[in-house]
Amino acid sequence: MNAIVSLEAGALPQQHPGTHYNEVIARLSALRNVKRYLEVGVQRGITFSGVKAEIAFGVDPEFIVNANVAANKKQTRLFQMTSDEFFRDVDVVAEFGGHPDMCFLDGMHLFEYLLRDFYNTERISSRNTLICLHDCLPLNHIMAHRSMDFANQNSAHTAYPGWWTGDVWKIVPILQKYRPDLRVMLVDAPPTGLVFVTNLDPQNTVLRDNYLDIVRDYFTQPNDQEAIVSHYRSNNVFQTDAVLADMNHSLFFNT
Ligand SMILES: C[S@@+](CC[C@H](N)C(=O)[O-])C[C@H]1O[C@@H](n2cnc3c(N)ncnc32)[C@H](O)[C@@H]1O
Repeated sequence: MNAIVSLEAGALPQQHPGTHYNEVIARLSALRNVKRYLEVGVQRGITFSGVKAEIAFGVDPEFIVNANVAANKKQTRLFQMTSDEFFRDVDVVAEFGGHPDMCFLDGMHLFEYLLRDFYNTERISSRNTLICLHDCLPLNHIMAHRSMDFANQNSAHTAYPGWWTGDVWKIVPILQKYRPDLRVMLVDAPPTGLVFVTNLDPQNTVLRDNYLDIVRDYFTQPNDQEAIVSHYRSNNVFQTDAVLADMNHSLFFNT
C-alpha cells in the first residue's frame, strides 16, 4: 500500500482526504493505550472528550467547555492559564506521576508559540512520547496569515470562510533544520492536517537555546501562497488511514 498522498505538482490540495483530526487523535489514544495525555488549547473540549487515557491534563487560558471532558478517563484536570504559565508553574511530570504518552498541541496559532509549546512539551516527555501538532497543513495563504482578523475578513468569499491556521506550519522547516534527529511526519487529516513528532530527546536544548534567532529568522520568511506550495513540495504527506491501521502502527511510531 502506498501511504503517501499524491499531490499535483505546484498546486495546493483543496481539502485533505483523510480521517478527521478529532477521530485520529481519539483512535491513536486508544491504539497506543495512553495513560497520560496532555492537550494545549482545549477550547470546547471536542477533541479532548474523545481521548482515552487514565489521566488527562488540558490547558487553555479561556475554556468554553461544552463537551464531556471526563469521558473515557479516570482523572481529568483543566488548567486555566496560558501554556507558558503552565510549563513555568506546574511540575507536570510530578502531577502526572510520569511522562505524558501523547500530547496534542493546538494552542495559539503563531509559530513562535507552537515552538515554545513544542520544546516545553519535549522537555517533560520520554523518548517514545508522541507529540501531535495541529493546523500545519494550511490550504491557502489567507488562513495562514498571522492575523486571525485578516483571515476572517478575507476568507468570506473563499471555500474556507472563517478558517485560521496562522503560520504554525513554519514549525516543520524549523524542526527539520534545527532537529534533524526528530522524526516529523505530515498527515492528511482534515481540515488542516496533523503533524506527528517522535524520537524525542528531552535533554536536547537546541530549540530553547536558539529560540530568539529562530524567531527572528522565521518571522521574516515568506508566508504567502508560494511558500505554502513549497511547504507541500518539500514534504511527503501520509494518509491517516495508513497510520491508524493496527498492523502499520508500529511501522510509523514507537509504542
Ligand atoms: C483551535 S482551539 C483548540 C481546539 C481543541 N484542541 C479541539 O480540537 O477541540 C485553540 C485554543 O487555544 C487557546 N489558546 C490561545 N492562546 C493560548 C495559549 N497561550 N496557551 C494555551 N492555549 C491557548 C484558545 O483559547 C483556544 O481555545
